[in-house]
Amino acid sequence: MAESKPKFYLTTPIYYANSRPHVGSAYTTIVCDTIARYKRMCGYDVAYLTGTDEHGVNIERAAEKQGITPQELVDRNYPIFRELWKLLDIRYTHFVRTTSPEHARSVQALVRRTLRRAKDKDYIYRAKYEGRYCIHDNLYVSDSAEPADCPTCGRPAELISEENYFFRLSAFQDRLLKHYQEHPEFVQPDFRRNEVVSFVGSGLKDISISRKTIKWGIPWPDDPEHVFYVWYDALTSYMTAIGWGVGENGTAEFQRYWPADLHMVGKEIIRFHAVYWPAFLMAAELPLPKQIFAHGWLLFEQEKMSKSKGNVAYPEPIVKVMGNDALRYYLLRDVVFGQDGNFSRDALITRYNSDLANGLGNLASRVLNMIERYCGGQIPRPGERPDSKYLFPVPANSAKNNAIRAFESHNFSAAVQAIWGLIGVVDRYLVDTKPWGLAENPAQREVLNTVLHDAAGALRFVAILAHPVIPHASQRIWEQLGQSGRAEDQRIEDLDWDGLKAGTKIGKPEAVFPRVDKKETWEKIEAMEQEIRNPASAPTAATSSAPSTPGAAAGAAPAPTKIGIEDFAKVEMRAGVIKAAERVAGADRLLKILVDIGDEVRQVVAGIALAYAPEDLIGKNVVVVANLAPRKLRGVESNGMIVAASVGPEGRPVLCTFTEDVPPGTRLK
Ligand code: ME8
Ligand code: MG
Repeated sequence: MAESKPKFYLTTPIYYANSRPHVGSAYTTIVCDTIARYKRMCGYDVAYLTGTDEHGVNIERAAEKQGITPQELVDRNYPIFRELWKLLDIRYTHFVRTTSPEHARSVQALVRRTLRRAKDKDYIYRAKYEGRYCIHDNLYVSDSAEPADCPTCGRPAELISEENYFFRLSAFQDRLLKHYQEHPEFVQPDFRRNEVVSFVGSGLKDISISRKTIKWGIPWPDDPEHVFYVWYDALTSYMTAIGWGVGENGTAEFQRYWPADLHMVGKEIIRFHAVYWPAFLMAAELPLPKQIFAHGWLLFEQEKMSKSKGNVAYPEPIVKVMGNDALRYYLLRDVVFGQDGNFSRDALITRYNSDLANGLGNLASRVLNMIERYCGGQIPRPGERPDSKYLFPVPANSAKNNAIRAFESHNFSAAVQAIWGLIGVVDRYLVDTKPWGLAENPAQREVLNTVLHDAAGALRFVAILAHPVIPHASQRIWEQLGQSGRAEDQRIEDLDWDGLKAGTKIGKPEAVFPRVDKKETWEKIEAMEQEIRNPASAPTAATSSAPSTPGAAAGAAPAPTKIGIEDFAKVEMRAGVIKAAERVAGADRLLKILVDIGDEVRQVVAGIALAYAPEDLIGKNVVVVANLAPRKLRGVESNGMIVAASVGPEGRPVLCTFTEDVPPGTRLK
């Protein structure tokens, strides 16, 4: 613990571990990572919590569906979250699982404290509960038995009737309203605060905070027939992770970091965070978080991207194909933070090419290569500025001030625009002064040095200012500029124009964002997404261009049990000889094969790389389905299919061949 620094504690929601994370869940985590990195660069000692919410009916039901226990389900799913955060280089400091023993102790400690501190106030009491409950969103939809639909997902809510422990939320209406008024920053953005104020102002009903019908949860202290309502449980995890539940007042770490400075959440869970949570804390006489910020939804195909709707995109393929910075940049640049935004793979690739490859990447490589070529690889000493339009360091300092202001108000797209504005200024500076022309005239040496110095100076500003958004590229540019230390350890407010020293030896100029082919990239991502969505249908047998079993493709009509000879005749099978084979980059199972089928040599992509080495295939006689519609796999065109048996439970492919040599092109009937 760095006691001398001010602390900043921020949290993501604790995600349900009923399925794997999608781009929507990654969004909040990326946003918080950006804030955490920014705050560290402002000199804060940052604690950053994320985790998995592992209780509740939706977990129980998902496990039931798969024929496993809830514990098995969450044990299987939670590592997928951790791996994704690793892939995304998320620098969280704490991870909480709500099924951990420390967490159970923490939740029970919060209720015990409430009962003890507010003995006479009856904040918690027993009563009969009857109402409608949405198991998908873990939301009490109405407090009457009348049928009702969930306001979040629209599905009919289930009827519940039992004796429960209640929390006297109604007693907190005035205190909450007073708090919103005295601390306008408590709920953000402002329009969300207004919604919360009007919800609370219209009257609060007590809520049930235990359940008897459910087994999968944290037992109520001294009354284990009841388990905690999943939101009481989940919200408390924000305190568990830093040491609540140990002793009377939590650990020293808890004393240091609580209250949280920021709970970042999606707009659909604002009520739990801005109404229930502060009331639970008030009842226990604990300090309230400083801010709840509710952002908008990422929409996919016009609807909220959501696992229960199934319209999701996964982060892993994007990151594996385009890199971590590409996804971060796109989400932070294209969505106005706070509002809903569309997620589109097309827009992602377009942004990458325009802003990262052509914008920052191209500028960095031009500037560094010119310094290499014209200045012997050393940052030149500046002289007189050639043109009063470009009075450096003015544009660099104003980009810095604007970016800081935007980061402070969580306006990430504005921060990025301020930084990319500086890139635009340098681009125009180079176009106007043409250093490649100056280099031809020895009399212009000083001007050339000034231009390249200024361009490098601006790039150095960009590397630091953009670090919270594109940490990987920022570090590489920092090194290529010959700067020492890590970009992430720099203090933003210390970023100073004079920090770029003439004579500094630059590093090796290397492209940070190579331009990508849109169609090919799109298809690569699509193929990897298909594998995540439907692992069973991924190419494992000899073909990738069609399922090996008729009707096995998703959405294909089931094959009739018997077919006529005319159906079989539609399949054009030919003898072929393999001429060449090589692995498909980025795909463990795929080989690109050139096969001679008599009148032509075909390119076929086959999923046999785990069973056959490419060099062993040359000269093999095989059977080719020649009239399959062409298809692209990982961007590689496949024109036909090589027939193979799929052996054993793993479906190991074994190629089909002939008992004697058959000339290529011979038709099979
Ligand atoms: O609600 N757009 O977990 P959850 C933007 N366990 N953000 C999205 C999103 C989308 N389409 N989809 C998900 C829960 N998110 C509870 C939280 S906290 C004490 C308990 C993000 O797995 C967003 O942050 O449903 C949203 O609030 C959160 O994931 C919901 O995650
Ligand atoms: Mg949800």
